[in-house]
Amino acid sequence: MPSIMKRSALNLSASIYSALRTRAARLFLLFVLSSMIMATVMADGDVQRGKEQSVTCAACHGQDGNSINAEWPSLAGQHEKYFLIALNSFKDSSRQNILMSSQASGLDEQTMGDLAAYYASQSASPRTTDPALVSQGERLYRGGNVERGVSACIACHGPSGRGNLAAGYPALASQHSVYTENQLKAYRSNTRETDANRIMRDIAGLMTDDEISAVASYIQGLN
Ligand code: HEC
Ligand code: HEC
Repeated sequence: MPSIMKRSALNLSASIYSALRTRAARLFLLFVLSSMIMATVMADGDVQRGKEQSVTCAACHGQDGNSINAEWPSLAGQHEKYFLIALNSFKDSSRQNILMSSQASGLDEQTMGDLAAYYASQSASPRTTDPALVSQGERLYRGGNVERGVSACIACHGPSGRGNLAAGYPALASQHSVYTENQLKAYRSNTRETDANRIMRDIAGLMTDDEISAVASYIQGLN
């Protein structure tokens, strides 16, 4: 190949490369910008306004989002994404509960965002695991049950039970074991069907009562 052609081929590939680099850079910039917009949308909730709105919720969920009745969930430390998914599921009746459903029906989007921001800003009070259930609970949470195909909870709910904000997977750490057991049994019996792609119904459907109590107790002690 004459050196002049070689040079122009080199020049051509260099310019394509730099064009690609710019395109990639532009795409990256777009990605960064849209993530920033997403973050502002998500962070739209106002913690102070949320605190004021939470007075009615406090009767069941506790002053600071740590409930004192083991059948009622703590909300403190739950991330905004799952909080809104859960609240909306009561609002559109895809999840039903005598005590909770009427609470969600009248809330507008701004108020729900403020409440989500407030509860996410609170910290879950640490609780404990029944010492007799620690080893079974920990094994299930971290490794699942390979023989029966129960997935490890850690994959989605995280090593310390904080959930996954990007994916919307709920934080579970320090939650009352009674509430957690009830939810796992509700998934198992298809009473709760809010999980897209049956993600939790399929997992809970493979679990025994003993496994459910052990993992729920382990989760209560995670913090
Ligand atoms: C009368 C008691 C009561 C009041 C008041 C109440 N809730 Fe609830 N809430 C519950 C119960 C009980 C559940 C669990 C329902 C179930 O088992 O499915 C729940 C569940 C929730 C959940 C889902 C939690 C999860 O981890 O999935 C959210 C979010 C929530 N409530 C938010 C609120 C907000 C916000 C308010 C105030 C506007 C409020 N609640 C007022 C009783 C109450
Ligand atoms: C593949 C991901 C995935 C795995 C693995 C997984 N979960 Fe979940 N879990 C979810 C998602 C998503 C939701 C929310 C579903 C919904 O909106 O109903 C959820 C919801 C829950 C809830 C209800 C939380 C609440 O506040 O009401 C409990 C309890 C729970 N999971 C426990 C477990 C346990 C225990 C394990 C392990 C045995 C486990 N999960 C494994 C994805 C997962």
